[in-house]
Amino acid sequence: MTTVDDILKEGITEVIVTTVSKDGVPNAAPMGIVRKGNMYFIRMYSDTATFRNVSDTGFLAANFISDPRVYVISAFQDLPPGYFRFEENRVPPRLKDAAGWIIFKCQVKDVVSLEPVSVKVARCTLPAFNRAFAAVIEATIVGTRLRFYRGSEGIDKIRECEALVRKCGSPEDIEAIKKLKQILEIF
Ligand SMILES: Cc1cc2nc3c(=O)[nH]c(=O)nc-3n(C[C@H](O)[C@H](O)[C@H](O)COP(=O)(O)O)c2cc1C
Repeated sequence: MTTVDDILKEGITEVIVTTVSKDGVPNAAPMGIVRKGNMYFIRMYSDTATFRNVSDTGFLAANFISDPRVYVISAFQDLPPGYFRFEENRVPPRLKDAAGWIIFKCQVKDVVSLEPVSVKVARCTLPAFNRAFAAVIEATIVGTRLRFYRGSEGIDKIRECEALVRKCGSPEDIEAIKKLKQILEIF
């Protein structure tokens, strides 16, 4: 049986975190789960909806999904309701198309500590690696932190990622980077 330790290796794994507000509204955002030894946590900005939902409900779902467009959209906009699936009451929703997900109980301290509750592997694929997927993720994370870069450094980095995506990427990767540039108004 696949365990959380098999899935989340030491370091930071980028996932789509899904949560639900106390009023029942689902939310998704990319976040990095840090594993140190057998401890799992997220360094979460307190001004995010994800942080608010986790503080209110105490749970999140970490979704593993290979569609780069979901990373771009959920980083900046609300994912339409059709992307989510509620399995049970009182449990955060997951993404409908996720290849697998882990439900975590959360404790909000200086970081958000994660205790695994359940793991589901819905689909397995061979680890064929395409640099474009990583480039979309990198460009998206730079996009969420543009205010911390000096001058055009952030935008330049996104353009470098874009060149790689155009060289190696699938149509979905190219659509994702175009969407990112459109959201950030990079022309
Ligand atoms: C790949 C990736 C990883 C990210 N990791 C984190 C993280 O670990 N913690 C965090 O607070 N924000 C992280 N972000 C930024 C959030 O996704 C972003 O602030 C988002 O708008 C939060 O959405 P929300 O308000 O719906 O929760 C990450 C963004 C990307 C693209």
